[in-house]
Amino acid sequence: MIISCIQSKGGVGKTTSAVNLGHALTMQCQRVLIIDLDIQCSASLSLGVSRGSFNPSIAEVLLEDMPIEDAIRKTTIPNLHLITGSMALANFDINFANHDKRTEVIKGGIKSINTKFDTIILDCPPTMGLLPVNALVASDHYLVPIQPHYLALEGLVSLLDAIDRIKAGAGAKSSLLGILLTMVDNRAKVTGEICDIIRKQFENAVFKTEVKTNIKLAEAPSYGKTIFQHDWNCSGAEAYQALAKEVIQRTKGNKKDEQTKTRKKRG
Ligand SMILES: Nc1ncnc2c1ncn2[C@@H]1O[C@H](COP(=O)(O)OP(=O)(O)O)[C@@H](O)[C@H]1O
Ligand SMILES: [Mg+2]
Repeated sequence: MIISCIQSKGGVGKTTSAVNLGHALTMQCQRVLIIDLDIQCSASLSLGVSRGSFNPSIAEVLLEDMPIEDAIRKTTIPNLHLITGSMALANFDINFANHDKRTEVIKGGIKSINTKFDTIILDCPPTMGLLPVNALVASDHYLVPIQPHYLALEGLVSLLDAIDRIKAGAGAKSSLLGILLTMVDNRAKVTGEICDIIRKQFENAVFKTEVKTNIKLAEAPSYGKTIFQHDWNCSGAEAYQALAKEVIQRTKGNKKDEQTKTRKKRG
């Protein structure tokens, strides 16, 4: 199963969710790989890789045809693997702009390792350029984090619409795994109101789990640690554990749907 963590806005919790959901899924006995697709390499830093140690990264795989197996590294967490990001990803769009299969570079690049992991999480950059388009084409599902602010709500409608257009244009079959409310700060009255509006409008598409604003989640990356390594007992750790269970539940449902569809097709 391949999940893209996608949002055109920056600073909304994509990387925090990719890294901590990844760790939480390993605690549910999954083998997980996180691929850092951002030139800022926040996921790599959050998992304890220091600047200067990013090579080999996903850039060598996608831009220089390095075998992907050579770029996979272990992390300090059992069953959690990582392919680091790189500044060199800045050349991705230019490199592939005129390429026939420019939307299938990542899909082709990770094909050989699909079955080695239960879940592969693609941590996307805050753009809607060729990298996120590639991520959508390569993934089975996408997860959209959103901060409950008025303008973010307006942006969510446009974002989901843009994703649908990209999917139609690129022939991607990826489906919405869920909208994740992050950095929910209940001290502001408007937060609850906006969460309610989002839940009413998008119904079951919104994960039941909400990630509250939690300083521990902001601290953990500075130690190169996930929330479970930094503070097992905080609300952020609880939230990402609950999210992992919801993700497993939702993808189980999808698997059943697929099986039913296949059975129906066969008659
Ligand atoms: N629930 C949260 N509570 C407090 N800080 C958070 C929370 N989620 C993320 N952060 C912090 O907010 C900043 C942006 O989060 P990040 O996951 O890097 O966003 P993105 O990947 O969308 O740019 C980071 O400094 C991160 O540590
Ligand atoms: Mg990020």
